[in-house]
Amino acid sequence: MTKLAIMGAMQEEITPLLEYFTNINIVEYANNKYYEAKYGDLDVVVAYSKIGKVFSTLTATTLIEHFGCDTLLFSGVAGGINPQLKIGDLIVANKLSQHDLDITAFGHPFGYVPEGSVYVPTNEKLKNIALEVAKENNIKIIEGIIATGDQFVADEKRKEFISSTFDADALEMEGASVAVVCDALNVPCLILRAISDTADMDAGFNFDEFLETSAQNSANFLIKIINKLIK
Ligand code: ADE
Repeated sequence: MTKLAIMGAMQEEITPLLEYFTNINIVEYANNKYYEAKYGDLDVVVAYSKIGKVFSTLTATTLIEHFGCDTLLFSGVAGGINPQLKIGDLIVANKLSQHDLDITAFGHPFGYVPEGSVYVPTNEKLKNIALEVAKENNIKIIEGIIATGDQFVADEKRKEFISSTFDADALEMEGASVAVVCDALNVPCLILRAISDTADMDAGFNFDEFLETSAQNSANFLIKIINKLIK
């Protein structure tokens, strides 16, 4: 690892991360701000993409192709599906899928397009380091499947569809697109999320209430992972 990308989707997801860095140099590129800094000897670039698969694809690609990052860590919040996940809890993705990708009219499964795959994996080493860090610090974390789509899910029926179709433990709006970019460009990636709501009727309300504290949980844990990576 020579240059680390740290990504969120929303300002609120990267603000708690930026607090760990000093001497930040802001670069404007492709309608976005990229925060260059050093963490010890390590070069890092922090950015939030804006919400959704398209913006997160653009930002992940830019971090790798323009800024030259060779490892990508994502931190943010998610809606919980697995009942073991309570608000504030952490999940690290072992694989992700796009729940709103639908060419089932042609006989394909949900989430699949020709030459693609329903699930895209994350980096096993990084995921295992996350699990180790959790163990060492006595922090609860679940390893599981995250489903991504361009929808804020606040509906039991949609949640149930995503749960049963993809066996998903959590859902959000950027992880799978970032993982697709990293997989295609051979850049190890980690997708970490803390639960802000449970994608039900109360999701909008809970999201507003818990976005900041859950984003902070995810950010604090991500820094612990980085500390382990540079040790
Ligand atoms: N991110 C956090 N909560 C979410 C939800 N309910 N739907 C989509 N993305 C989310």
